[in-house]
Parts: sequence; structure tokens; C-alpha cells
Amino acid sequence: MTEDIDYEIDAEDLPARSGPRALGSPSVVVDDLHVTYRVFGGRKGGTVDEKPSLLTRAINAGRPKGGPISRVKAVRGVSFVARHGESIGILGTNGSGKSTLLRAVAGLLPPTTGRVFVSSEPALLGVNAALMPKLTGERNIMVGGLALGLNAAEVRERTPEVADFAELGDFLYMPMNAYSSGMASRLRFAISTIKTPDILMIDEALATGDASFRRKSTARIEKIRDNAGTVFFVSHSLGSVRAMCNRALWIEKGELVMDGDVDEVCDAYNAFVKSRKGASAGANLR
Ligand SMILES: Nc1ncnc2c1ncn2[C@@H]1O[C@H](COP(=O)(O)OP(=O)(O)O)[C@@H](O)[C@H]1O
Ligand SMILES: [Mg+2]
Repeated sequence: MTEDIDYEIDAEDLPARSGPRALGSPSVVVDDLHVTYRVFGGRKGGTVDEKPSLLTRAINAGRPKGGPISRVKAVRGVSFVARHGESIGILGTNGSGKSTLLRAVAGLLPPTTGRVFVSSEPALLGVNAALMPKLTGERNIMVGGLALGLNAAEVRERTPEVADFAELGDFLYMPMNAYSSGMASRLRFAISTIKTPDILMIDEALATGDASFRRKSTARIEKIRDNAGTVFFVSHSLGSVRAMCNRALWIEKGELVMDGDVDEVCDAYNAFVKSRKGASAGANLR
């Protein structure tokens, strides 16, 4: 489906498309997931309640400054099943709810309503991954490795390999705030795959990698899939999504617009972004 699509259409009105290839058992099941943020003060974009409820107004009555509490419905009724061996790209313009969805699947945000089932604890690798800028790369590898369930001796044993994969050189012993963004993002990736995770989620963390690093990380992701793991991949680079994924979900304003073969979804999304060219969101596509 490369022709323009009707973006006002409900996900369930889209024609049924061929599902994923025959794969392993489900690793992630998301059932009618809604995530709503409560925001104190002004509007932050997204879908905000038109009028505050009586309760909200009552709560706000005594609030001297900072404005009303409003709600941002960041994820609205998303359902899908991911299987072992699948690599799933997640597309959508800025603020469409991709990071929120991943954080909810990773168990970092409670669903407002709906349910998330996972076969094992997902490793979420994000732009804001918990690396500490004042610590050296070496210390961050230790912290990250421990967080992923290795013991200190195991992390020490693997540190050279992680540093090598991330191409840190002597920067291993420098605080991370001295790193280039490419170096930091390579290190995030290397740490989060220190232990082959069953479910790996990558949220725009590979954006700054160069071609050779992308090849290496693609190989590592392939290894996860070979081990019957599941990979979720958020990136503004459609080329990387096409290269790394076999399936894609497209989310717009918190709703699942399309779910299917990676090329079909990328084509449709690309057409959508082009059709909005001139609008600010078009600039996000690289
Ligand atoms: N911590 C938060 N508190 C309130 N609103 C948030 C928070 N994080 C994200 N949002 C809002 O939720 C919506 C979805 O954001 P996000 O999941 O980050 O989208 P994406 O990753 O696709 O850019 C946006 O409107 C954003 O402003
Ligand atoms: Mg995001």
C-alpha cells in the first residue's frame, strides 16, 4: 500500500495485511493499552482533555500557581502481539507515543488501562538510558552490567569486549560527559546487549552510529533474533528500520495506525510524512 492513506481512519478500518512470518511463541502481548500522563500546569501537546473534571477543578482550587492538572493521552488503545524471533520497528512522528509505549512494555510506566504481558523482562535502551555522565565509561559498564543481572566479576570479564565493541579506546577511563554523542550511543548499545536479552528495545539510541557501527549492531540484533529473542526498534531513520526489522508498527497520536510488513508500513509512513512536508514534523525524517 504505497498510495496515500486516509490518516483519520481507525486502525481497525485498515485492510487486513499479511501477518508476520511463522515465528516462535508470543514474547510480548499488549492488550488495549492506554497510558495517560497527568501534567501539572500548561499543555504539553498530545491529546489533552477539553475541560477539566469537577474533581480536577476541585483539586486545583487551592493551587496558587502552576495552572490546572491536565491529562496527556500518550498511548490510546494499542494492541499487538510480538513473537520470539521478530524484529519490530516503531514509527511515528514526534510525540506520537513511541517512547511511552516502550516504557510501558518495559514495565517502567504502569498502564492507565489495558494490559501488558511479557515472557521475560525487557531491556530498554533509550536516549535517556541510565548512564551517568560523571562516571567513566568503565564505571557505567559496571553499573549497567549489574543492573542487567551480571555479577561484578562477570562484568569485569566482559568490560574489554564492551569497550571494544563501543570503540571507546582510552575514553573508557574518561567521564562520559567527555564523550561524543556517537560514542555514548555506542556504549549504551554495547552495555544493553552485554547479556543477550530476550527482549531488547532500542529507542533512538543508534541514531548517531556510523555505517560500520550500524553493521556491527545489526549483526548483534540478528544474533538476538537467532536466539529467538524479540527486538523493538524506534528510529527516525527509515533505512535502519527497513534494514533491521521485518515488521513495523506505526503509531500516530497514541493510536496504532498500521501494523504489518516493514516495507509496507515504511512506505505508508513515508508518504504520510511527505504529505505533511512543510509542516514541522517533516524535518524529523532523515
Ligand atoms: N513524562 C511525561 N509527562 C507528561 N507528558 C509526557 C511525558 N512524556 C511524554 N509525554 C507526552 O506524551 C506524548 C507522547 O510522548 P512520547 O511517548 O515521548 O512520544 P515519541 O517517543 O513518539 O516522541 C507527547 O505528547 C509528550 O509530550
Ligand atoms: Mg521518543
